[in-house]
Amino acid sequence: MVERGPMSEGLPLGLDYDHHPMVRRAAEQVVQWFNHVMRDGRALVLIGPSGTGKTHIVTRMVQAYGPGARYLTESGMVGDLKTGMSRNALWTPDDLLRTWNKDLFLVIDDVGVAKVNEAAWLHDVYWQILDGRFEGKRPTVLTSNKVYESFRNRLGSRALDRLLDATNQGDGIVDMSMIPSYRLIGRKEHVGE
Ligand SMILES: Nc1ncnc2c1ncn2[C@@H]1O[C@H](COP(=O)(O)OP(=O)(O)OP(=O)(O)O)[C@@H](O)[C@H]1O
Ligand SMILES: [Mg+2]
Repeated sequence: MVERGPMSEGLPLGLDYDHHPMVRRAAEQVVQWFNHVMRDGRALVLIGPSGTGKTHIVTRMVQAYGPGARYLTESGMVGDLKTGMSRNALWTPDDLLRTWNKDLFLVIDDVGVAKVNEAAWLHDVYWQILDGRFEGKRPTVLTSNKVYESFRNRLGSRALDRLLDATNQGDGIVDMSMIPSYRLIGRKEHVGE
């Protein structure tokens, strides 16, 4: 059983909901599922094009959670693991994976962008992280601006299976593809002013 964290009071997303009905719809799904994620140690995925507010939302989540939350980008995660493989490294990749599995709340932003030579290696990394976290009922949020097919291929089938379990077969996957880039909506607003 995971203790209710500081997020139980509500999640201040800081989004301009009124700009677009799809923003409002996505925000409602995020907030609704997020409470479940934090309470029951499940997963939330934000997937959609660039500029739709994914990093904005996860940054607010991490800030609101406070100590015990970790924000990683996929590129940062891969870079840290590669550093851990070098001979004089102060930590090993296994040390990192253990640490990330224990984090009370983990965000991995920008799934699909890191430069990786071996897809199978990254599949194993995602498997270890997601399997470990969901076994321990630890809440996890992923974002990606790739299409769903690429996102799936990035995780690999074993990790994806775990993720689907942890999102109730997709209830916790928020499709942001109908939201126009915030910069474009913002520009329209300014033109109207
Ligand atoms: N609905 C919104 N309300 C307020 N600000 C927003 C909203 N959506 C996006 N923004 C702002 O627009 C900018 C781009 O958003 P963000 O970086 O979160 O996009 P993203 O979905 O993470 O894109 P990428 O896939 O390229 O990483 C940021 O400054 C963010 O704060
Ligand atoms: Mg982003």
